Amino acid sequence: MSDTTHLKYPPRITKRVINHKYTSHTLDFLIKGTVLPFDCYIKRYSDYVIIIQAGTYITEELLQKMHHNKEIYFLKEDSEKIRLYQTEYKTIDLSQENTVPANEPIKAALDLPQTMFNLFGTLEERLCLLYGTTSNLMQMIFDKGDEKLPLDGLYTCVNQLAACINPETNTLPMLLKIIPDKYTTHHHSTNVAFFSVVLANAIHLSQEEIIDVGFAGLLHDIGKIRIDSNILLKPSKLKDTEYETVKNHSDYGHAILTDNGISNPKILNGVHFHHERLDGSGYPKGLRAKLVPKYAQIVGMCDAFDALTTKRTFRDNYTSFQALLAMKQEMAAQFDNTYINTFIKLLRVD
Ligand SMILES: [Fe+2]
Ligand SMILES: [Fe+2]
Repeated sequence: MSDTTHLKYPPRITKRVINHKYTSHTLDFLIKGTVLPFDCYIKRYSDYVIIIQAGTYITEELLQKMHHNKEIYFLKEDSEKIRLYQTEYKTIDLSQENTVPANEPIKAALDLPQTMFNLFGTLEERLCLLYGTTSNLMQMIFDKGDEKLPLDGLYTCVNQLAACINPETNTLPMLLKIIPDKYTTHHHSTNVAFFSVVLANAIHLSQEEIIDVGFAGLLHDIGKIRIDSNILLKPSKLKDTEYETVKNHSDYGHAILTDNGISNPKILNGVHFHHERLDGSGYPKGLRAKLVPKYAQIVGMCDAFDALTTKRTFRDNYTSFQALLAMKQEMAAQFDNTYINTFIKLLRVD
């Protein structure tokens, strides 16, 4: 009789061996205000299921939902990313800014890109982290209401963003997946910066101009620091007087940038005139056609696109295509048609 016993009775692979692929942590391992750079699992009976995907922005609400999970798990193959998340992100927890010296979050944001970009391999992961950092920095600025801006940190974010985006790769569909649905001024500012850089890249502006447009996009609503948050956060339609108050943010934004030593007229105009429209219907000056500066047109279009595609308490959001269609048809006189068409082309998923 030939010896085939080993074929009928192969060695058992125990679950213990499979479990060795994971490492466990308590829930406080997750840091609010960060973007998780690797998948997070929980245990369901003997299986591990992904509960938070890599690239997810960790919010207070998410942590609350997870509170009953005593342990969470990560793949051991992500150990280097896990180590850096623990060591690097502990120092850039911008959500804790009230408990640390004022310059710490800014310093941390400045330090971040080096480690972040060295670490993460895919464009989507880099963009996720950059989005988290940029929106955290903007949140800190708006929450504190300090008009002295962390310019180095802001420029670092925009420089890294411009470095991520090139004409060969269409990043818009990727960005739209990363951006949260909910409207906040800091997310909106970040979104407009990201869109402005993508559009500036697609219309072949120089690298220097792409960075400057992104910077104008990031700070386009900085003047809202001076507007009463009860008006900004009002869940219903604004009264005429309240709307007039909000409109001042364009002038305030220009003043705040000037006070911070920014003298580049293109950036200043981009912020000051982002609510101007080609048909003269905008504010603060009612500029028309070519008198609306180029950066203001780019930022203004990205601003309108983001406003339409973000969920607000008083209305549902448009899909990206619905928003661009509305801009192309109902608002055709307000925006440069070539910019809208470029944006529509960028929406395609390769
Ligand atoms: Fe605005
Ligand atoms: Fe805006």
